[in-house]
Amino acid sequence: MAGRPIIIDCDPGQDDAINLLLAMSSPDELDILGITTVAGNVPLALTERNARQICDIAGRTDMKVFAGCERPMQRELLTAEHVHGKTGIDGVEITSPGTPLGEQHAVDFIIEALSTTAEPLTLVPTGPLTNIATAIERAPAILDNVAEIVLMGGAMREGGNHSPSAEFNILVDPHAADLVFRCGKPITVLGLDVTHQVLATPGRRDRIREINNDAGRATAGMLDFFNRHDTVKYGSLGAPLHDPCTVAFLLAPNLFEGKACNLTVETASELTMGHTAVDFWHVTDRPDNVTWIWSVDADGFYDLLIERLERYGDD
Ligand code: BDR
Ligand code: CA
Repeated sequence: MAGRPIIIDCDPGQDDAINLLLAMSSPDELDILGITTVAGNVPLALTERNARQICDIAGRTDMKVFAGCERPMQRELLTAEHVHGKTGIDGVEITSPGTPLGEQHAVDFIIEALSTTAEPLTLVPTGPLTNIATAIERAPAILDNVAEIVLMGGAMREGGNHSPSAEFNILVDPHAADLVFRCGKPITVLGLDVTHQVLATPGRRDRIREINNDAGRATAGMLDFFNRHDTVKYGSLGAPLHDPCTVAFLLAPNLFEGKACNLTVETASELTMGHTAVDFWHVTDRPDNVTWIWSVDADGFYDLLIERLERYGDD
């Protein structure tokens, strides 16, 4: 049986890139119809290029990759080179990708895929939500064919990682996030509360370094770079692997625990712009609109990631 049909919308970014490698290693469970890219960690020209290089590394030069929105819906673009390096995927040697860039705009691809699909699709955003929100705004009927949205973004207990109140993906395009969280479809949110539990500790990085294939080497190299920023900034044992929580959730939801809640995005206050107000204890009568994931079996997560990266074979 073919896997569940998904579209991954991303802004690679080392952790987006590792998420793509995890997804492409799992064809029995996931049928990736396309990878759409958005401006976020680095500008669009780099995120689309990086996604294509990761497809090369996965041996999937046949993958459909599209470039989408160059800037957020209403605000100026914020980028995060201080976290991800100049290229976005510092830690791997940059090559000229063999995977071609699709001619269609990513938003057109998302609309077309959702308008013509025989079965509902799962959307997996791991960057600012600009492409997804723009598609919904332009063609709201596509929501009929969205099975669910499983995204990385937001924070409750952990506070912000790019402002005191906001997580990066939501802060970059809070208006897009607001639109998506109000779309009425089932949404599973993997925010900093859970991604900060999956740290790439030295022992876990050693296990990844032992994987004898291009995907393993690329992952190890990217993690070594990614780790520098986070271990210094947070004094933690390793960087959180934010975005791979989305695909890990699709592959092994039993590793995670979550709760139905209301999540509302701040779009008015400059001070707390992009804050995700998660009503975890149901202290308001706002209706539940997300499943807020708050816990993960981190060892199980890394066992899954490593087992899947090993599937790329031995050199
Ligand atoms: C999110 O922001 C980006 O820096 C990462 O790729 C991840 O999607 C974490 O806040
Ligand atoms: Ca990302």
